[in-house]
Amino acid sequence: MKTVLTPRGVRRVLARHPWVWRSDVVDLPPKPGIYPVTGKRETLGWAMVNPLSQISVRVFHFGDTGDPLAALWKNLDQALAYRIGAYRADPEAGLRLAFAEADLLPGLVIDSYARHLVVQAHAAAWEPLLDELARRLQETLKPHSILARHDSPVREKEGLPRYVRPLAGDPPETAVVGEGRIRYQVNLRAGQKTGAFLDQRDNRIFLGREVEGRGYRRGLDVFGYQGLFALQVSPHAESIEVIDSSAAALVAARENAALNRAGNLTFTEANAFDLLRERERAGEEYDLIILDPPAFAARKADREKALRAYKEINLRALKMLRPGGLLATASCSHHVSEADFYEMLSQAAADAHRLVRIRARRGQAWDHPLLLTVPETHYLKFALLEVLA
Ligand SMILES: C[S@@+](CC[C@H](N)C(=O)[O-])C[C@H]1O[C@@H](n2cnc3c(N)ncnc32)[C@H](O)[C@@H]1O
Repeated sequence: MKTVLTPRGVRRVLARHPWVWRSDVVDLPPKPGIYPVTGKRETLGWAMVNPLSQISVRVFHFGDTGDPLAALWKNLDQALAYRIGAYRADPEAGLRLAFAEADLLPGLVIDSYARHLVVQAHAAAWEPLLDELARRLQETLKPHSILARHDSPVREKEGLPRYVRPLAGDPPETAVVGEGRIRYQVNLRAGQKTGAFLDQRDNRIFLGREVEGRGYRRGLDVFGYQGLFALQVSPHAESIEVIDSSAAALVAARENAALNRAGNLTFTEANAFDLLRERERAGEEYDLIILDPPAFAARKADREKALRAYKEINLRALKMLRPGGLLATASCSHHVSEADFYEMLSQAAADAHRLVRIRARRGQAWDHPLLLTVPETHYLKFALLEVLA
């Protein structure tokens, strides 16, 4: 049985994009699984196919092969080989070992928190392969435990059940991860995503180094989750306020502050939009503001609305920074391009009447690789801005 694509679907696969939407498929197998993908005749690749999913075809091997499973496991081996040095070098590391399509492993994310692995496999064809996946991970990495965090609502779109279960060992509730100069606790079973936002790891360490010795007075870590940006900068500021709308996130942030003996963090549960508006109106001033919001544009249609929301928070932050102050600002919406992001920041600076220097333009951590032909993999933008006047 095979999957036959429309001419547009064929062009997409030839241009090396692994996703084909249902509207670009002529003929689909009735059940999820691994199938060859063809145009009129030749096999263009092998894919995880799911007739229930909008993204019906997720190619993991371009061209033909006599052994598609071997090709899939080879992709896993390559993903692990890329990170194994870092995994072995630091038993406390927080690392992304597999980054889905960017590693030609459709919908598969594997994060390691101090060698406790958390797996999210959001393509239906992985379901019967999970035991074999765990066996291979054990063989190569010898982790302490492996947990399937299959509790995300996106699984319903794939027609998949939601559950959390160990795939190997006895996963603890929490693991302690080292990140630069700090350590933090990850809630493996209930933390956001797989437990932490590893894509910002290198930016957090970078920011901690950038502020060294500058002696900031007041800082805000807005959308702070478990306080990791705040902890990286805390030795160099008099006080940092962590803001998040989730009470559970702030419980974790408090625990992480205690773990690092950071007595200068405070915690405020609030909607960031309301809080920034109130603080700006009250004439508050800061030396450092971090903005790391969730993806405001989950769909392409939300792009304009998202850009307005990004502009609103960045504009308010820029207005509240003292001259010499820093804004570390991010967007993780892939529908907002890097060009859109910097254009939005330029407009915010102009409207705030501030002269702003770009001190760094960065992206996601090195273990979240980018594919040139798959723009969805270039999702995280991170800018460090300095207000000059
Ligand atoms: C991308 S995560 C932040 C990750 C964090 N900076 C880190 O490095 O670990 C976004 C956070 O924003 C919070 N959040 C979402 N909407 C919010 C809102 N309107 N106001 C405040 N916090 C919000 C979420 O609870 C989540 O913790």
